[in-house]
Amino acid sequence: MFKIVSREVVGPNLISLRIYAPQIAESARAGQFVIFRIDEFGERVPLTIAGADAQTGLVRIIFQTIGKTTFKLALLNAGDCIRDFAGPFGTPTEIKKYGVVAAVAGGVGAAEVLPVINALKQSENKVIAITGARCKDLLILEEEIKAASDEFLVSTNDGSCGVRGIVTDVLKNVFNSQKIDMVYAIGPVPMMQAVADITKEKNIKTLVSLNPIMVDGTGMCGSCRVTVGGKTKFVCVDGPEFDGHLINWNELISRLALFKDAEKTALEEFKKSGQHHPECKCRQE
Ligand SMILES: Cc1cc2nc3c(=O)[nH]c(=O)nc-3n(C[C@H](O)[C@H](O)[C@H](O)COP(=O)(O)OP(=O)(O)OC[C@H]3O[C@@H](n4cnc5c(N)ncnc54)[C@H](O)[C@@H]3O)c2cc1C
Ligand code: FES
Repeated sequence: MFKIVSREVVGPNLISLRIYAPQIAESARAGQFVIFRIDEFGERVPLTIAGADAQTGLVRIIFQTIGKTTFKLALLNAGDCIRDFAGPFGTPTEIKKYGVVAAVAGGVGAAEVLPVINALKQSENKVIAITGARCKDLLILEEEIKAASDEFLVSTNDGSCGVRGIVTDVLKNVFNSQKIDMVYAIGPVPMMQAVADITKEKNIKTLVSLNPIMVDGTGMCGSCRVTVGGKTKFVCVDGPEFDGHLINWNELISRLALFKDAEKTALEEFKKSGQHHPECKCRQE
């Protein structure tokens, strides 16, 4: 069993947990993830390691309540335990001295990008962080990202903070003002695809962190299969990061939708069961 040591709401439907898992905390590197199960009947869900402290043995995860399992996880509090918390999985981010790196994050990607920014800074890169949200209230972890990066730029669709527009508008402005050596993108698939389309024209190396449906996390079940540069890859072992210019995005998008009906039914049944956290907004939908 793995104990939740702290719980914090970091944004609308976004929760940060610190879990005591000393072995993972000791070996985790930027870009890797864990797979957890709440109880013995639970599904396995992958989440990026948003922080790991070898001294305290704590591993931080930040997740969006989006379906049955993440809603159930949001019901737990500091002091509660979860059944399984395995990792670190995946190949760590390729960290080296690139020069100037633009780290672009959308949605919950703003949490996932933090360890990558920290590792890039340790390798003496200049990091320009770009995050976006629909409006100011939906921006998360601004202070932490600002503190970790050299420049922090924001876009909001309604213009309530930073540039009015989307993250790719900000990225284009950055390209007009300085030379960028590498782009790292994490967030919704359409956002990562749009970033990769722009950087391909400019021939700038671009890493994207993919989020397909996963089951075993060991390369055996095939559920996280993607095509990269015409070759089959398994995101859980070969990724989650790949060259954004080589991804078959259409295939990824269609595979992400494979279980939509089953996921919808599972969430509806969970909502009907009456288990809701005080912060849960699902009854208002
Ligand atoms: C390597 C990796 C790292 C991830 N890191 C994080 C993280 O740090 N924080 C976080 O909030 N989420 C992260 N995700 C996504 C997270 O695993 C899913 O949101 C989660 O599985 C949803 O489970 P659920 O039972 O609550 O919802 P489900 O009922 O399984 O899904 C509900 C809806 O969520 C969407 N969804 C499901 N799985 C994914 C997925 N893998 N990617 C994108 N959308 C999905 C679909 O639209 C689906 O209809 C990561 C995924 C991967 C593969
Ligand atoms: S999750 Fe099964 S092969 Fe990757």
